[in-house]
Amino acid sequence: MNITVMTLFPEMFTALNHSIVARAQEEKRIELNYVNFRDYSTNRHGRVDDSPYGGGAGMLLTPQPIFDAVAALPEAKRRIIVLTPTGRRFDQRLAEEWSQEKELVFLCGHYEGFDQRIHDELVTDEVSLGDFVLTGGELAAMTMIDATVRLLPDVLGKSASHEDDSFSTGLLEYPHYTRPANFRGLTVPDVLLSGNHARIETWRRQQALKRTLERRPDLLDQVTLSDADRRYLQS
Ligand code: ADE
Repeated sequence: MNITVMTLFPEMFTALNHSIVARAQEEKRIELNYVNFRDYSTNRHGRVDDSPYGGGAGMLLTPQPIFDAVAALPEAKRRIIVLTPTGRRFDQRLAEEWSQEKELVFLCGHYEGFDQRIHDELVTDEVSLGDFVLTGGELAAMTMIDATVRLLPDVLGKSASHEDDSFSTGLLEYPHYTRPANFRGLTVPDVLLSGNHARIETWRRQQALKRTLERRPDLLDQVTLSDADRRYLQS
């Protein structure tokens, strides 16, 4: 997968040069490229922003540097994603969809955002990290890149899997325990030590249902529940 990030602050993205996303780059499963669209500004001071028509606080990113930076990208069938709190909310389903793409472009805004003509003419997806406002799109882009890249084949390695992840099943994930079985009097649920895989599966499913009901009941409307699930939730 080829990922291009268009940003005024490419140095922020060093966070992606660590851990699993770094390994994905080393193993050539992804290629990350950065474009500082200030380099495309025809303004002799390299300006990329201006005040809004109609008045109001804040500055907007002007069309010229961004149109020219996008025009300079290699031609390909690609998604151009703009990070904005007014976009559709990012979620695991969107990460899964993006992980099927060959080419993604992230456009990171600052100040009050972009001139609307950028949205209208260049952008295929407007996406928000959540219902809060960041100082810029970079942290949102990094988060979304991380969530997408870990879903690519072989990125997590054989011992780790994302199939049971929270949200992949439509539920929050069940709790996990590792050794020791008794840590300063804090014990691991007996069922996990039983070696009975069917009982363990049932317990995990029930824990996932319980957590989701307590913390994110809204998610339960979108999952397919078995009769056993319903009986558990009603108990
Ligand atoms: N830029 C500023 N706030 C944002 C948010 N919540 N999501 C994505 N991009 C943003």
